[in-house]
Amino acid sequence: METKIFDQEKINDAVELLAAGELVAFPTETVYGLGALATNETAVKNVYAAKGRPSDNPLIVTVSDEKMMAKYAREIPERAQKLIKHFWPGPLTILLFVKPGSLPSAVTGGLETVAFRCPDDKLTHELIAKLGEPIVGPSANTSTKPSPTTAQHVYHDLNGKIAGIIDGGPTKVGLESTIIDLSVKTPVVLRPGEITPEELSQVLGEKVLINSGKVAEKGVPKAPGMKYRHYAPSAPVIVVDHSEDFLQIDFNDTIGVMAVEDILAKIKLPEENKFNLGNSLQEADHNLFGGLRYFDDKPQIKQIFVQGFSGSESSLAYMNRLDKAAAGHHYMTK
Ligand code: TXA
Ligand code: MG
Repeated sequence: METKIFDQEKINDAVELLAAGELVAFPTETVYGLGALATNETAVKNVYAAKGRPSDNPLIVTVSDEKMMAKYAREIPERAQKLIKHFWPGPLTILLFVKPGSLPSAVTGGLETVAFRCPDDKLTHELIAKLGEPIVGPSANTSTKPSPTTAQHVYHDLNGKIAGIIDGGPTKVGLESTIIDLSVKTPVVLRPGEITPEELSQVLGEKVLINSGKVAEKGVPKAPGMKYRHYAPSAPVIVVDHSEDFLQIDFNDTIGVMAVEDILAKIKLPEENKFNLGNSLQEADHNLFGGLRYFDDKPQIKQIFVQGFSGSESSLAYMNRLDKAAAGHHYMTK
């Protein structure tokens, strides 16, 4: 099956395919998602197969609004209502108890909770509203690869495996949504994203904990996806935490570098060995996954050195993804 690319005029074709149980990738403000009707068990199982994703790693349920979500949540506590009012539509995924029997267990991986997300994207909002039912929405990449921030990334990974892709252009944020668990006594951020723990805490008026994914209760990480290898390009990645260290590295043609513009300008390497992360942390968030994929097309590159950003809550999301891509490898000053 050749995967079709749809533009905004063809939304109705995508709605029909989804209603028939087919898989269609969709844009969001964070990364592209892989859509299938959340109430159709076969379609949901096909999502795991297309991504090559382990079946114990549950899927996000993507809704058009709170009203749609209410059909699948056991209840919507006041805390959730506050966050929805403030941040939806937007890059925040909320974990609540699932209404028993309302969704196939393949969606939740058999857990008692379900993750809800309402993306800030006009096309996708229209798609789900027309469908009248939620779609599952894991990132539309092959499992272990960086999440897709363009329709072309999705096509590269999933062409022939899914019916269609809705092309909404490059995504705005570039890193996946913040996930907050509201099924526990004190809210916990399970995955950092553009919306920071501090902002969440301010809106909730209470403390918010952060679970890096390293702390597992009884050996089971709270966000199951966090235990898997992630965001891995073909070549090994090394994080460079201090930008002055870029001037000490013995570069050669087999090395790729991802850094902000003024650091790149000081590095003597062919232009094709360099990937510009932009001029700010926000631009680096936006460009990180694209850069990791850029070097996958260059077999001569054997190592990728990537600039780290640290010291602020807003760099948590970037560093979380980069650390996973690097499997914890950091450049050590000589
Ligand atoms: O920005 C995003 O959230 C994107 C866009 C497409 O919406 N989606 C996304 O989905 O990143 P995915 O499947 O790649 O990551 C969702 C994470 C996984 O680590 C999964 O384990 C976790 O959410 N998750 C889903 N349901 C859960 C649940 N019931 N309990 C704990 N973790 C859950
Ligand atoms: Mg993912």
